[in-house]
Amino acid sequence: MRVLILGAKGQLGRELEACFGQGHQVVGCDLPEFDITDRDQVFRTVAASRAELVINAAAYTDVERAESEPEPALRSNAAGAGHAAAAAAAVGAPVVYYSTDFVFDGTSNAPYTEETTFPDLVPLSMYGRTKLLGESATRTENPNHFIVRTAWLYGPGGNNFVEKILAAAKTRPELRVVSDEVGCPTHTWDLAEATMALCGTAAPGTYHFVNGGFCSRFDMARAALEMAGMDTPVHPCLAAEFPTAARRPARAVLSTEKYTKATGRTPRPWRDALAHYIQRRETHA
Ligand SMILES: NC(=O)c1ccc[n+]([C@@H]2O[C@H](COP(=O)([O-])OP(=O)(O)OC[C@H]3O[C@@H](n4cnc5c(N)ncnc54)[C@H](OP(=O)(O)O)[C@@H]3O)[C@@H](O)[C@H]2O)c1
Repeated sequence: MRVLILGAKGQLGRELEACFGQGHQVVGCDLPEFDITDRDQVFRTVAASRAELVINAAAYTDVERAESEPEPALRSNAAGAGHAAAAAAAVGAPVVYYSTDFVFDGTSNAPYTEETTFPDLVPLSMYGRTKLLGESATRTENPNHFIVRTAWLYGPGGNNFVEKILAAAKTRPELRVVSDEVGCPTHTWDLAEATMALCGTAAPGTYHFVNGGFCSRFDMARAALEMAGMDTPVHPCLAAEFPTAARRPARAVLSTEKYTKATGRTPRPWRDALAHYIQRRETHA
């Protein structure tokens, strides 16, 4: 199968290239040569690739900056998503769009499902709003879509939470990490494999994919440090102590039951996936 990956230099894009590259013909594109906000260029690129599957992993992911500068986030995450979906539809190809737990308000104690709607499906941040608009644009422009909501991604080369914690632990005598933000850490490798499974076996639609279980940022930091063999002390604190421009869901746990039913696969527990990532880092260090 010919697979076109948009946003191929991002932390997820690189994993998608590696994963789909084992058996498919993969072409990747990203800024600065390729800009998803340029509708004509997206149509030209998709047509020239003769793609049988278009994976849109391109996104404006600076959650804080999106609050003060929403236009670029809207152009990439909402309008750009529509361009990718429409261009894929024009060549008869399915499109994959990645969305986020930030589309939920984070007030529910129960896991969010693909059927969860208003009043829970209410983004608290501009980034979340642009991603929800991107979901709608994808659905409207291409009925043959896979919208995959995920969360707390970390992968090689990414400026992610795990890397920030490990870097901070090298220079600071102790760390303070929020314990009242709960979510589902997810390894980009697992998400790339899940994407392949969904596109291979599942019906088009909206799916959640995250690693198994959930934890606080504090739990995740402590686990990453322990797995990396670092003994920097880490203390829990409250999110209110670190005010940010963007509001985040306090507790966003995504149910992956629909993914499991569709593919017959169960996401591995987040601790196993994190241990695998730490081991990969060490192998490539
Ligand atoms: N990271 C997370 O925790 C998380 C959680 C839930 C969902 N997601 C979603 O998962 C997907 C992948 O995220 P990620 O963590 O891999 O993000 P990432 O590392 O920031 O990768 C996104 C890629 O898209 C590129 N890009 C940005 N604007 C573009 C444009 N106008 N045209 C073409 N390419 C553009 C970026 O280039 P530059 O780096 O040059 O800007 C980058 O290479 C995104 O849809 C994101 O919203 C991420």
